[in-house]
Amino acid sequence: MLPRTHCGDFRVMHIDQTVRLCGWVDTARDHGGVVFLDVRDRSGLVQVVVHPDTPEVHKLAHSLRQQDVIEVQGTVLARSEDTVNEKLSTGAVEVKASEIHVLNRSETPPFPIEDDCHTGEQHRLEFRYLDLRRPKMQRNLQLRHRVVHAARQYLDQQGFLEIETPILNKSTPEGARDYLVPSRIYPGSFFALPQSPQLFKQLLMVAGMDRYYQIARCFRDEDLRADRQPEFTQVDLEMSFVSQDEVMSIAEGLLRAMFDAGVGIHLPEVFPRMSYAEAMARYGLDRPDIRFGLEHVDITDLMKQVEFKVFREPADTGGLVKVMRVPGGGRLTRKQIDDYTSYVSVYGAKGLAWIKVNDRSRLPEGLQSPIVKFLPGQVLEALLEACDAGNGDILFFGAGDVKVVNDALGHLRVRIAHDLGLVADDDHRFVWIVDFPMFSWNADEKRLEALHHPFTSPHPDDLELLESDPLAMRSQAYDLVWNGTEIGGGSIRIHQPDVQARIFRALNIGDDEAREKFGFLLDALKYGAPPHGGLAFGLDRILALMAGAESIRDVIAFPKTQKAADLMCDSPSPVAEEQLRELGLRLRKNMISSG
Ligand code: AMO
Ligand code: AMP
Repeated sequence: MLPRTHCGDFRVMHIDQTVRLCGWVDTARDHGGVVFLDVRDRSGLVQVVVHPDTPEVHKLAHSLRQQDVIEVQGTVLARSEDTVNEKLSTGAVEVKASEIHVLNRSETPPFPIEDDCHTGEQHRLEFRYLDLRRPKMQRNLQLRHRVVHAARQYLDQQGFLEIETPILNKSTPEGARDYLVPSRIYPGSFFALPQSPQLFKQLLMVAGMDRYYQIARCFRDEDLRADRQPEFTQVDLEMSFVSQDEVMSIAEGLLRAMFDAGVGIHLPEVFPRMSYAEAMARYGLDRPDIRFGLEHVDITDLMKQVEFKVFREPADTGGLVKVMRVPGGGRLTRKQIDDYTSYVSVYGAKGLAWIKVNDRSRLPEGLQSPIVKFLPGQVLEALLEACDAGNGDILFFGAGDVKVVNDALGHLRVRIAHDLGLVADDDHRFVWIVDFPMFSWNADEKRLEALHHPFTSPHPDDLELLESDPLAMRSQAYDLVWNGTEIGGGSIRIHQPDVQARIFRALNIGDDEAREKFGFLLDALKYGAPPHGGLAFGLDRILALMAGAESIRDVIAFPKTQKAADLMCDSPSPVAEEQLRELGLRLRKNMISSG
């Protein structure tokens, strides 16, 4: 039998050759007796022509419908000049069929198998195997393969060992809820699916494996968004005897390799760095999109001299007052400003004060605003100076709780940049965020929480603050941010058991609880644990950005919905009473879903 040529591979060099191809009928058209079939496989699409001079084949070709699977034998011919299709890689040739075999018929698919199908995602996910036949999805999964392959190659060259860690685990705290798996052998006991391989990779360092990596599946039962899945993949690595700089440099090399292979973009040798404090001050978010300006200016001190309560109160009571200047924003309408006001309310902002600068040389008449009347002349002067305001600008203000103000103005900054077209899609800006605080304060539970995870090493200069001022402590954690998305993060870990015990204590994890949850780690640290650190990239997020996809679901073969369900297999689903009994489980009456 002739070897199979892939549909997308036909070129001028194949002209006059006898060939065999297999694939799906993309379109079938009858042009006055000659039947044209576009046949597609993973590699692309080629045109097959069937002439009436082969009546049997012609009759069969007439019966073909979209998505039938066929095998074609024929001869490659040059297309006439006026029918060459420049947009198609195979567009200079066509295959004149001498034989066609139907390998399988297809029912009419529930939606068109093409890139611009406007079918809702629900429907596409139900028939994911058809959705994945679309050229765009085929490209996305091929991209995924190339990028993972490049990651493996790079890490192999750098001396990393690929080691698998268990899926049936003890809970690893990465801050999300665990997926639990009941044990049959130990009724009433549960495994947790790994939120990340964090503890195992640290134990591998204690085991002397030094450079470890894994393309690791992680499971987190958290509220989903477009860039989150309950089950996602990390490119996870860990190294011994390294500094933060060394981990970051390996991570940069890894990302460069992934980019080269994925999208042919050459990234810079070194990525810029910014402290967490600077990111929050200038952008309000710890994952700043630095493709555009619209930076924030802190005017808390200035507002200590005004009567206007909205600004004065937070300034006096440890809150924050910030202004964000939008150049040319003077043309925003009242309706747009009202929209932005409701937008920031989602983040807890109680309002969105604004000033339009119509004529800076005439104060206060040159300013248009609901709040100018509350601000004395010299404060207005200082304010305009502080944010370098010019005619035609608008200033937006946030005042109140530090977190709320940063969140509100941080997200507003991104929203306005997109609305005003300040974001260039082909601009790729990476920035490391470093010097994260070690802890954040959980006001509801009145306790410290680890900002990264509880195994992250404090900044060596800050350890003495642990008991006196823990919230001022910095950690040795770092995140990599690409165009405003956090694509990876890691840290230098704690390798001394006494430091780890102190951090657990600061986190209000009692000695007994620490033993019960992480006894194996605390023990391991006692037996010559090397200093170590690492990082994990969010593979799906990186791929979604590379592919220009709207959601990470588009780069995952079989993703879950926003509601953490698989619509194709219809899971999760109830199980038989018998299975529950074996596991020693009984459902609470009010929790039994109708399915
Ligand atoms: P972290 O929790 O920051 O770190 O995760 C690393 C990266 O994984 C991606 N990510 C996700 N992607 C899709 N869906 C999710 N639900 C999701 N959650 C996280 C993000 C993130 O930057 N063990 C540490 C790493 C380390 O310290 O070495 C960890 O898991 O892009
Ligand atoms: P008020 O005195 O509440 O009517 O508010 C006067 C102006 O300040 C309005 O434009 C509000 O949108 C704005 N404003 C109110 N609270 C805040 C806040 N916390 N931050 C920023 N602007 C606010």
